[in-house]
Amino acid sequence: MTGPPSATSTWRASPPATPFETDPPDWERWDASHLGGHRFVARRGGRVVGWVALAPVSDRCAYAGVADDSVYVSDDARGQGVGRQLLEAVIRSADAADIWTIQTGIFPENAVSIDLHQRCGFRIVGVRERLGRLAGNWRDVVFMERRKP
Ligand SMILES: CC(C)(COP(=O)(O)OP(=O)(O)OC[C@H]1O[C@@H](n2cnc3c(N)ncnc32)[C@H](O)[C@@H]1OP(=O)(O)O)[C@@H](O)C(=O)NCCC(=O)NCCS
Repeated sequence: MTGPPSATSTWRASPPATPFETDPPDWERWDASHLGGHRFVARRGGRVVGWVALAPVSDRCAYAGVADDSVYVSDDARGQGVGRQLLEAVIRSADAADIWTIQTGIFPENAVSIDLHQRCGFRIVGVRERLGRLAGNWRDVVFMERRKP
């Protein structure tokens, strides 16, 4: 398991679909804000082509089992099942731990990510309208969640 340092180019390739965080954070900040046991990369030919990770949504103990997912696949590896493998891997690790809800926010036009999450058992909770601003424009975000069976 590893994190974004080796995956930074994957991140840079995808900012248009990444809700609001358009630049990769530095490693220390990323590492501190994501769960150690729930981060995976996909490698092809020794190169990282995708990653997935969970971040806690709150430090309140009532929400201790609620985490936010991020999943990214590099342009040239998309549409080949990598995203699904990554998301399924982190769902397995979450289910095996004490994480009862995985949630995520996705831009409405990102049909691939919405579809991927639905196929992995997420449901659309609703659309959070004008949630944040990107490049000066208010953006809606589709809020999705998967509850541990
Ligand atoms: C969203 C993303 C992670 C999907 O990864 P991927 O490896 O391309 O997805 P997969 O090949 O595993 O496909 C998973 C599902 O998505 C759907 N899908 C994949 N490519 C698609 C396409 N071009 N059009 C429509 N649906 C598509 C399929 O329904 C597929 O389901 P299946 O496994 O039953 O066939 C990837 O496109 C990505 O990194 N996008 C940019 C970053 C991003 O949006 N991250 C998510 C932020 S919430």
